[in-house]
Amino acid sequence: MSTLRTSLTSLLGIRTPIVLAPMAGASGGALAGEVSLAGGFGFLAPVYRGLENFKNEFDIARSTLNRPSGPLPLGAGFLGWKLEEAQSPHVALLELALENGVQAVWFSFGEDLGRWIELVRSHDEKHGKTRKTLVFVQVNSVDEALHAAQTWKVDVLVAQGIESGGHGSASSPPVLNLVPQIVSALPPSGAPPVLAAGGLSDGAHLAAFLTLGAAGAVVGTRFLFAQESLYSDVQKRAIIAARSGSAVRSYVFDRLRDTTGWPAGTDGRALAMPAVAAVENGADITAIKEEVAEGAERGDPSSVIAWAGTGVGQPNRLQPAKDIVRELHEDAVARLKASFALIGDE
Ligand SMILES: Cc1cc2nc3c(=O)[nH]c(=O)nc-3n(C[C@H](O)[C@H](O)[C@H](O)COP(=O)(O)O)c2cc1C
Repeated sequence: MSTLRTSLTSLLGIRTPIVLAPMAGASGGALAGEVSLAGGFGFLAPVYRGLENFKNEFDIARSTLNRPSGPLPLGAGFLGWKLEEAQSPHVALLELALENGVQAVWFSFGEDLGRWIELVRSHDEKHGKTRKTLVFVQVNSVDEALHAAQTWKVDVLVAQGIESGGHGSASSPPVLNLVPQIVSALPPSGAPPVLAAGGLSDGAHLAAFLTLGAAGAVVGTRFLFAQESLYSDVQKRAIIAARSGSAVRSYVFDRLRDTTGWPAGTDGRALAMPAVAAVENGADITAIKEEVAEGAERGDPSSVIAWAGTGVGQPNRLQPAKDIVRELHEDAVARLKASFALIGDE
């Protein structure tokens, strides 16, 4: 197997620069563990059903990785605004991840992410960790990237474009623009690796972003098609049936399920739903919410929110996560080799 070596693979000691996004409701211990086992790097997301549930996901990750104790070669992702709520139970989830010896933590969508980065660094110091916990921060603009690199000295920047599934900044540029803008704004040496996130669903995308200066790809939606993803059966059926172009951005998804505490300007991309279109066209949300709740109860796919990025439409079946990593890697290698073949010397 050919290797793909980047600053990210050296930093994490992994074989391929493919990172599973910490997707709430999808990235559990089995999925994160399989991605890391396959040579990439998996992030768990807390499922927000409490500490016991998160502990259970760590147990699953440990058994998947056959690491009953000691540090774990995967990470855990946290939403800043959830940590920042008064007496937030999420702080205990972050501490649990650190106690489990995760190799990296990921922060996004908060007003005060520096506070949580500080907590991670104090934890490392208090426990005399020789290998520090790496900090990933997801950003949506050059200014955010520079702040994260210069003020917080993060280890990895994730450049999240408008194509991304799940939540993101409504004003984020396309990832094709954002990645090179961030790479060229950072100093040529000593800067953190920049990863591309948003709509990346095959090896050609990974190859393209490596040539644009990214050190790797963060992949979310494509891993929703993994057998190990925690998406429900009805969500999996919906994304398999989805056509290209059917994942849309809206603030209404959160209004329908009463999860509206996100930082200003954060909307989300999910499969289009008749209910979302109706509310956007002025229908009364209270009545629509009831209809959606009833539909979801019946397992009606058009009433279930399936967060997904612009990469839907191409994959049309579930696969083991390790096969997805292998396919992305091998396809990227083949594309890069084919590109080099274009170059000739006079
Ligand atoms: C179902 C789903 C849940 C997500 N949950 C989170 C989350 O909890 N925290 C976060 O930082 N990003 C989350 N994201 C966004 C990802 O971090 C990443 O930016 C995105 O998946 C990349 O785009 P893609 O889905 O097109 O690959 C989520 C994305 C999806 C699809």
